[in-house]
Amino acid sequence: MNIKKIVGERVAKEVRDGDVVGIGSGSTVAEFIKALGKRIESENITVYGIPTSYQSKILSLTNGIKIVSLMEHSPELAVDGADQVANDLSLIKGHGGAHTMEKIVAFSASRFTVIVDESKLSESLDAYVPVEVIPDAIMQVMEEVRSLGGDPRIREAERKVGPVVTDNGNLILDCDFGIIREPEKLSVRLDSIPGVVENGIFPSRMVDEVYVGRGSGKVEVLKK
Ligand code: A5P
Repeated sequence: MNIKKIVGERVAKEVRDGDVVGIGSGSTVAEFIKALGKRIESENITVYGIPTSYQSKILSLTNGIKIVSLMEHSPELAVDGADQVANDLSLIKGHGGAHTMEKIVAFSASRFTVIVDESKLSESLDAYVPVEVIPDAIMQVMEEVRSLGGDPRIREAERKVGPVVTDNGNLILDCDFGIIREPEKLSVRLDSIPGVVENGIFPSRMVDEVYVGRGSGKVEVLKK
């Protein structure tokens, strides 16, 4: 059973003809995009998309979604996956390296809906926090992250030597903070370090609901 497909299809049903949708990144969102593409073809509806990465832009284009820009539109709805979802619905995102645009698009949307399978649920946030950094600031930012109690590692690329370079041309530090008791406070402190572009903590106040695909094939909706 493909749980990501089930949850992606469920949320694709929520999109209406003419909507502007913020489109996150990752494998669960890929299922959402494909399901939306099927609706566009079979129901002859028009959907405008604001993608958050090259991955979601290319996939949206090949599925009939019309790409528009955040400079012209704010989305009615943003849909995205997550790497970890805490009980209070705060999130860690960016394990795919796209959290900066994901956060900008989610923040600008009237409604932010998260789609995950149940493996992403956790009592508290304790996964590593991705931090996008302007390349020349990487050493200084690592020192500052350590002073906040984190253990930063530069994310290394696969099939390329050296570090991952984001869609925005920056580097990523994956930072282990153990259990994060106050996610919003840590997020604010990270973003106040000069050279940090954005971090992957999404405070719960940004999230409207989380659709969770269960192993049974059922989809549960978590709200605050
Ligand atoms: C991308 O940077 C991430 O924030 C993704 O949204 C997150 O990694 C979820 O991806 P999956 O749906 O592939 O687990």
